[in-house]
Amino acid sequence: MSDLRAVITVDGPSGAGKGTVCARLAEQLGWSLLDSGALYRITGLAASRKSIEFADESAVSAVAAGLDVVFEPTPTGVKVVLEGEDVTDIIRTEEVGSLASQVAALPPVREALLQRQRDFAQAGGLIADGRDMGTVVFPTAPVKVFLTASAEERGHRRYKQLLDKGFDASLPALIEDIQARDERDSNRAVAPLKPAEDAILIDSTELTIDEVCEQVTGLVRKAGLI
Ligand code: C5P
Repeated sequence: MSDLRAVITVDGPSGAGKGTVCARLAEQLGWSLLDSGALYRITGLAASRKSIEFADESAVSAVAAGLDVVFEPTPTGVKVVLEGEDVTDIIRTEEVGSLASQVAALPPVREALLQRQRDFAQAGGLIADGRDMGTVVFPTAPVKVFLTASAEERGHRRYKQLLDKGFDASLPALIEDIQARDERDSNRAVAPLKPAEDAILIDSTELTIDEVCEQVTGLVRKAGLI
């Protein structure tokens, strides 16, 4: 594995604020960002577009291994290009989130994406956002955070995000979906969602994004990385 002295892992359930916190920290520190959830979302989307049955694990993992995807940094965030098509918005839909969580439960898919994720650490400092960054992908990272929040709060945040983007949404359905996804992510046999033993737990239910960023930056400073 490459040098992990400057890797910060941020794991936790969906809607805990990981995406926003990680993007902000990456920008503040001038470090790279790994959005591992995007890789699972892209795999789910690509496999579904190719009409591959998710029960066919080897076919789905072949899609994961051969993904033709480019992450292009732009002033407004990272643009995701799959086989030449801009899929930045499509992969954020609830439908693709559900596809992602289904393909993420397949061990060969996780294996196929492992090296691709580790390669992100070769360029120096890295903020890795996901579910198993601290437990599986970067187990020796010096700073590990497990960021969580109540399901209701996460549902509210997701609801607001979707409305802001002009999507239709139902709050009770979103909370139910978040709970179902938590359940699937926490109970799957391979790389279940759980804090690494050496992770610091941050509950963002009552915190602003700024407050969470301050806490994480404090940990990074304490570890002597900045
Ligand atoms: O973080 P995001 O919501 O984009 O992730 C989508 C789905 O991908 C998650 O619900 C989870 O099932 C899966 N995932 C995972 N491991 C990761 C990142 C995401 O299993 N490291």
